[in-house]
Amino acid sequence: MKTLLRTLFAFLLLNFLGCSPQEAKNDTSSQEEKTWWKEGVLYQIYPQSFKDTDGDGYGDFKGVIEKLDYLGSLGITMVWMNPFFESPMVDNGYDVSDYRAIHPRYGSMEDFQAMLDGMHARGIKFVLDVVVNHSSDQHDWFLQSRSSRDNPYRNYYHWWPAEKGTPPYRHSLFDPEGAWEYDSLTNAYYLHTFAEQQPDLNWENPKVRQEVYDIMKFWAEKGVDGFRMDAFQFASKDTTWPEFPEGHEEDFIKWYGMRPQLHEYLKEMYAEVIEPFGVFAVAEGAGSTFLDAHDLVDADRKELQMAYHFETVDLSRTPEGYELEDFKNVFSKWDSAFAEKGWISIFLSNHDNSRLVNRFANPSPEFRTPSTQLINTFLMSMRGTPFTYYGDEIGMTNIDMPTIEEYVDVEALGKYQTAKASGQDLEEFMRILNYSSRENGRTPMQWDSTPQAGFTTGTPWMKVNENYVEINVAAQEEDPNSILNHFRKMVQVRKENPALVYGKYELVQKEHPEIYAFTRTGEGQNLMVVLNFSQNPSSIELETLPTDASVIINNYSTLDVNGNTLNLKPYQALIFSVDQ
Ligand code: GLC
Repeated sequence: MKTLLRTLFAFLLLNFLGCSPQEAKNDTSSQEEKTWWKEGVLYQIYPQSFKDTDGDGYGDFKGVIEKLDYLGSLGITMVWMNPFFESPMVDNGYDVSDYRAIHPRYGSMEDFQAMLDGMHARGIKFVLDVVVNHSSDQHDWFLQSRSSRDNPYRNYYHWWPAEKGTPPYRHSLFDPEGAWEYDSLTNAYYLHTFAEQQPDLNWENPKVRQEVYDIMKFWAEKGVDGFRMDAFQFASKDTTWPEFPEGHEEDFIKWYGMRPQLHEYLKEMYAEVIEPFGVFAVAEGAGSTFLDAHDLVDADRKELQMAYHFETVDLSRTPEGYELEDFKNVFSKWDSAFAEKGWISIFLSNHDNSRLVNRFANPSPEFRTPSTQLINTFLMSMRGTPFTYYGDEIGMTNIDMPTIEEYVDVEALGKYQTAKASGQDLEEFMRILNYSSRENGRTPMQWDSTPQAGFTTGTPWMKVNENYVEINVAAQEEDPNSILNHFRKMVQVRKENPALVYGKYELVQKEHPEIYAFTRTGEGQNLMVVLNFSQNPSSIELETLPTDASVIINNYSTLDVNGNTLNLKPYQALIFSVDQ
């Protein structure tokens, strides 16, 4: 009834303001505003590793097309695909040399369109990766820019003339030698926050911004529904500080990004692209304070609709893992910061991290299934749009790469060089890299138990995890209690229980050392989520206990209630309705 009244009120208000619901699609000025991207479940595809159809060892669009029914069967409603544009592939496509062309390894524009149409036909929206903090050094803009100091494209990038002396040191995320690269052609240095082949675009130049909006419009016209803004907090930067202090790797963003102008640019982008095309945008990174994050996503500001922060993934960067207390604190803190306004995504894994199972669940054969089901239950139960990474729906795990010779990733190689140059203990470094490197999260999708996991008939660009014989989609399709089938159920549970999307979150028994319990209340529902994060049985006393009838999801077939106590099996995950 309340919902009906609210809808009626919103309708009257829109009429009063003289705009149609369509025009108001992006006006999310109230937390109550319901939108597809809040209600969606996003699935991230790393196209290179998803499904190869031409035997070249790289995934392609036709492979995704082949798996459209699989995507539909997951129930997911959005796909974010990592870059597939023309690129020299120094950073696997995050170095774009032509933003309107497709790298031939993925197929043609026709294939892209067929893939997009196939997603739309299944009710799945498409989110494009927009990599515009930097381009490739092979992009025509950069080739022009470096060719002479008076080239019209010179100002598309950040240059420091050598006659001013050596530029002040800046840390680079990928290059052990820092973020300035000397280019003898014009006797000047250019800035690159990432690899030297990824020069930073100069966002202060209005022409650059217009180029970016034009690129976004090009793809919006093809029908993409949203954009993921790569490394966006670095886009607007101050390169003029004469005494730029050294260090600051820790508070990197504060020193190197999130300049106030960024918000002006985002407003401009909103007016040029987001609003007129009715698309949405999510930023990688949420600044270094809650204020930054709010400024990016508060609907009234008309900048972005969503952002994602790294505080959770940062909890588990070493094999020693994380403390449940910290995990609860991080999620509770971010939830309360966005309880009234703004919207974030919830993610625990992506292409820049090692596998979800190794970092937040338990990869041992005994506990892999229940613990992955538990973490996926959690992901689908929080306020914020869940982002799930390909392979996590079947519990794919890390691979073992103990020696640096096996690595191809520009980030891993850069970090190794830095460790070596600074005299770090390389054995310890490799132990951590083997656990945390992003190559772990990029191994080919494990479809079945045929050679190369059914990913390719050729030689895969990256080795397939040898556990594919056991961990694969086909095997899990057969088993009603598999990680895959639990994932599907959880997606359904989220869709059918709006309290999981919009409801208020409240922590229950914050201090419990093994159990993460919380309520989600709203939309006429009162739900309780109880998750035993331990590999041992545990119990919790609750005011309202579940009955068989009130249970919405349970990754075990049993429910053990004794008096006032709920006993949970290792990694048991339950959601139940508190209204009896
Ligand atoms: C983002 C991407 C990452 C890439 C980097 C440089 O962090 O997620 O994969 O290497 O930007 O583009």
